[in-house]
Amino acid sequence: MERKIVLVTGANTGIGFEIVRQIAILGDRVILTARDEAKGKAAQNLLKKDNLMVDFVRMDITRETSVMEAFQQVKSTVGKLDVLINNAAILFDQDRSLLKDDLSILKETVASNALSHLLVSRIFSPLLTTGGRIIMTSSDGGSMSNPVGGWSPAYCVSKSLLNAITRHLAYELSGRDIAVNAFDPGWVKTAMGGQSAPGTVEEGADTAVWLATTRRINTGKLYFSRKEIPW
Ligand SMILES: NC(=O)c1ccc[n+]([C@@H]2O[C@H](COP(=O)([O-])OP(=O)(O)OC[C@H]3O[C@@H](n4cnc5c(N)ncnc54)[C@H](OP(=O)(O)O)[C@@H]3O)[C@@H](O)[C@H]2O)c1
Repeated sequence: MERKIVLVTGANTGIGFEIVRQIAILGDRVILTARDEAKGKAAQNLLKKDNLMVDFVRMDITRETSVMEAFQQVKSTVGKLDVLINNAAILFDQDRSLLKDDLSILKETVASNALSHLLVSRIFSPLLTTGGRIIMTSSDGGSMSNPVGGWSPAYCVSKSLLNAITRHLAYELSGRDIAVNAFDPGWVKTAMGGQSAPGTVEEGADTAVWLATTRRINTGKLYFSRKEIPW
């Protein structure tokens, strides 16, 4: 079987790094992207020590010029993409109240966690093959059916918007047979999740790896632990 080509954003650490690691172990070709060149190359070298060879491309998802440069680099060196995994995100410590916080917290969070995923998807979509996939890293904080949790509201709003973007992109890309889905990794130990999180990065990455590699997949759905869940 032909090796898939998979690109992961924000993959120098945390869940993104683990997604890259697991997909590289499966034998597919992975493009690890990161906004910081030194951190990205350090992550690439860490994998090399385990004989896992991955490509590195610098990409800051919030800067259109950086996304365009990354696109040109992937286009000229690889030429196509089977799976795009939008993983990079931010969460501000000061994210406490939609009423009281400076509005810049909401604006920056939405720009990073939702609009940038759309930007990356728009720019890279011409490279996606028929039968290709886009995977969005969401969160239970973005749920429109669970009770509102009272934590990091700007982050939660950004993930609700990301979920809505996922559904609309799934509709728009259905004509090209490109599946667009979101997943919730669960609460896992990373810089963002903190050390008291119950889950591991291996668990957090598992559904993304499954969505990227499983033979048949729906489109416009949200998953947790490899199962479809309500938005
Ligand atoms: N951990 C959890 O419990 C949890 C739960 C639900 C959902 N998630 C989601 O899972 C995903 C990964 O989170 P994580 O826990 O692995 O977080 P993390 O350890 O903080 O890693 C976040 C990654 O995103 C990168 N990033 C941030 N802004 C970027 C930008 N503008 N351009 C490129 N890369 C950027 C960071 O790069 P730098 O190192 O340069 O900052 C880092 O590599 C996120 O979408 C998050 O919302 C996490």
